[in-house]
Amino acid sequence: MKLIHVENQVEGGKKAFELIREGMEKRDVKVLGLATGSTPITMYEAMVNSDVDFSDMIGVNLDEYVGLDGEDEQSYRYFMNEHLYNAKPFKETYVPNGVAEDAEAECARYNQILADNPIDIQVLGIGTNGHIGFNEPGTPFDSETRKVDLVESTIESNKRFFASAEDVPTQAYSMGIGSILKAKEIILIAYGEEKADAIKGMIEGEITEDCPASALQKHDNVTVILDDAAAEKLSEIE
Ligand code: GLP
Repeated sequence: MKLIHVENQVEGGKKAFELIREGMEKRDVKVLGLATGSTPITMYEAMVNSDVDFSDMIGVNLDEYVGLDGEDEQSYRYFMNEHLYNAKPFKETYVPNGVAEDAEAECARYNQILADNPIDIQVLGIGTNGHIGFNEPGTPFDSETRKVDLVESTIESNKRFFASAEDVPTQAYSMGIGSILKAKEIILIAYGEEKADAIKGMIEGEITEDCPASALQKHDNVTVILDDAAAEKLSEIE
């Protein structure tokens, strides 16, 4: 894994976008795997403030809460529209449908979207328990898109976006770890001391389902963008 240390989130967002821009210019990157959460917001700001045209690009998101439709302000579809797509239209954008009537059919539909649009660059955040997407500890590394139960600590972390913890959905559709590992290139971003343990597990820990992000050690093109606080538990060698 290649590590890039940044001073703050604004610099981290710019750096992540620089990598994407370089891919678009030099390697014909067309399909971006995109993430939500507070971490990628500065990257989306850098994209929106740039003069880059994304109208030929395809965006495929990692996950969506079960039960929220795209008009719901807490949905990840709404987040993507607000932070990126309304300002920078893409050719096609995909987010799982949180209100699909048939969960199995929705997962099959999303897996087909991924098969038809292989991801060139996947952007990831990380949960405090090491989750990527909504792949909680224990998720098999060959998993594909499916409906998952969120663990208590994830509901607790994400309740800051909702009126109360009771309002946080308890399930989500998430691309699997196997789907994420198929991306040609991965950029994982983490800021803040609450991510330091997960980052240590991901980079220096053993490869284990207990830390979903440790699966990224099996991928040969991963760049990790970290601030000092998120990197503070890494051994000095890094
Ligand atoms: C959610 C998302 C993840 C994200 C994580 C961290 O659980 N499903 O994709 O990486 O939160 O969020 P944040 O960036 O707000 O810390």
